[in-house]
Amino acid sequence: MKRRFRKADPFSIVIFGGTGDLTHRKLAPALYRLMLDGHLPEETIVCGVARRDWSDEYFRDQLREAVLAGPEGKDFNEDAWRRLTRNMVYVRGDADEPGTYSRVDAKLREIGQSMEARPDRNRLYYLATLPSLYEALITSIGELERSRNEGWGRIVVEKPFGHDLESAVRLNALLARYFEENQVFRIDHYLGKETVQNILVFRFANGIFEPIWNRHYIDHVQITVAESIGVGHRGAFYEEAGALRDMVQNHMLQLLSLIAMEAPSSFDARAIRNEKVKVLRSMPLPTVESIARNTVRGQYTTGRIGGETVPGYRDEPGVAPDSQVETFAALRVGIENWRWAGVPFLLRTGKRLPERSSKIVVSFKCPPHLAFKRSMVPELRSNTLVIHIQPREGITLSIGAKVPGAEMQVRNVDMEFYYERTFQERSAEAYEYLLLEAILGDTTMFIRGDEAETAWRYIEAVRAGWDENVVPLSMYPAGTWGPQEATRLLESATVCTGPASGDDDPWATRIGMCALTDWDPS
Ligand SMILES: NC(=O)c1ccc[n+]([C@@H]2O[C@H](COP(=O)([O-])OP(=O)(O)OC[C@H]3O[C@@H](n4cnc5c(N)ncnc54)[C@H](OP(=O)(O)O)[C@@H]3O)[C@@H](O)[C@H]2O)c1
Repeated sequence: MKRRFRKADPFSIVIFGGTGDLTHRKLAPALYRLMLDGHLPEETIVCGVARRDWSDEYFRDQLREAVLAGPEGKDFNEDAWRRLTRNMVYVRGDADEPGTYSRVDAKLREIGQSMEARPDRNRLYYLATLPSLYEALITSIGELERSRNEGWGRIVVEKPFGHDLESAVRLNALLARYFEENQVFRIDHYLGKETVQNILVFRFANGIFEPIWNRHYIDHVQITVAESIGVGHRGAFYEEAGALRDMVQNHMLQLLSLIAMEAPSSFDARAIRNEKVKVLRSMPLPTVESIARNTVRGQYTTGRIGGETVPGYRDEPGVAPDSQVETFAALRVGIENWRWAGVPFLLRTGKRLPERSSKIVVSFKCPPHLAFKRSMVPELRSNTLVIHIQPREGITLSIGAKVPGAEMQVRNVDMEFYYERTFQERSAEAYEYLLLEAILGDTTMFIRGDEAETAWRYIEAVRAGWDENVVPLSMYPAGTWGPQEATRLLESATVCTGPASGDDDPWATRIGMCALTDWDPS
């Protein structure tokens, strides 16, 4: 699908947290690439804001080094960088201090006044800083925007959007006081990934899948976001979050809603986000009994990954020695509507798992009758469709095929599509795509306020059960696929399970082994 080329009108981007990690590793490379590819006008103003005593020049140099150190450092284009940094400035200031915002405003006007295009009038404010500062930032930016009567103003809010339902509701109310919903861009960078967007194209641009995309044909759906890294230096942050808040509330429920949503009436933000939120609302809030039955929480202990011994979570810096925080979460979720009633959605995420991989596995039901002798189908599994999100991006469909030879034998084979093999075009980085969408004012791939709250409501119900120890914290050695209990979630969900195959991921090996019954109907 070729998009018409999109170029932004002259504008300014103000990055709160200009000296931080996100700005260096993601935002600067994304802006550079957008300039290189011609999406940004020459007049673009980039303004970094933070407390450190940096000069404009030092700010530019730091960002340049960061871009050079990343993938964009290869074939670095000096001319594009010069165009991006022509109006790149740094304003020193504390988010809690009102003077910071008037200095930002004055700086933008000062630069903009010298240009006919007036890029200072259109403004994208990016909150790339500590979530504890969001309320102060939204209030002060909101007041500044109220005082302006020109161009547009938009605000990008990084994840996490709130710490729980109450804080998310408070943030939404504050945003609504100053901004219309179409001016607010709540980021979940998973929605910027090529394959994640391709879920919509796959489902709604192809006629052959939608008729079977329901409870009649789908046995269950697995969503896995596995990380091999531990918490590293983010121990203190993670102690406040845990896997449920850090991954499930946002990335995993977003993937779930894209997979399960009804076809939107059009491809615009309102229609798509309406359908996504309906999915989240169709998930019944779990009771204490269902939390005990349908969720698993785990924490990694020391173990081996890639031939190296790694410390357990409780030995990581910033983590309490008796921490009860989960680094692994698995949930069996139901969606109560006509399409999905009775189909389990299995979500699983964890740190220090054997590999970094995110994927969605749609496991179809077995054929109603297998007219083969047992010897012909020793290892026939039901059809599975796998949407690979990372590290490789693509889709595979496993089907039964005849093994070559004089005998009739059936075995599963994969039909594969991988982005890097099929397309010559380079994939845009998630931040590059999402930044351009925000600059152009398209909220489709951002989370709407009610979506964030509905997701929090579900997560908070699970959290409440976990806090009361309804489900014990299970330990798992680093380098394994999490606690054994998570495998039980899958077994009871699968209509047709079979013995484990060669793969050591229990969720992969237990997918729909089609059973031949010995029952003779004659
Ligand atoms: N890093 C990532 O890969 C990543 C990925 C996804 C989401 N995020 C989200 O992005 C946000 C930023 O994360 P980060 O990793 O970039 O954090 P970080 O490296 O700790 O950066 C925080 C930034 O905020 C500034 N800051 C702190 N207190 C301030 C204050 N009182 N007034 C003004 N500026 C202040 C810091 O600069 P000074 O110390 O100079 O003030 C720094 O620029 C977070 O919400 C995070 O969850 C980050």
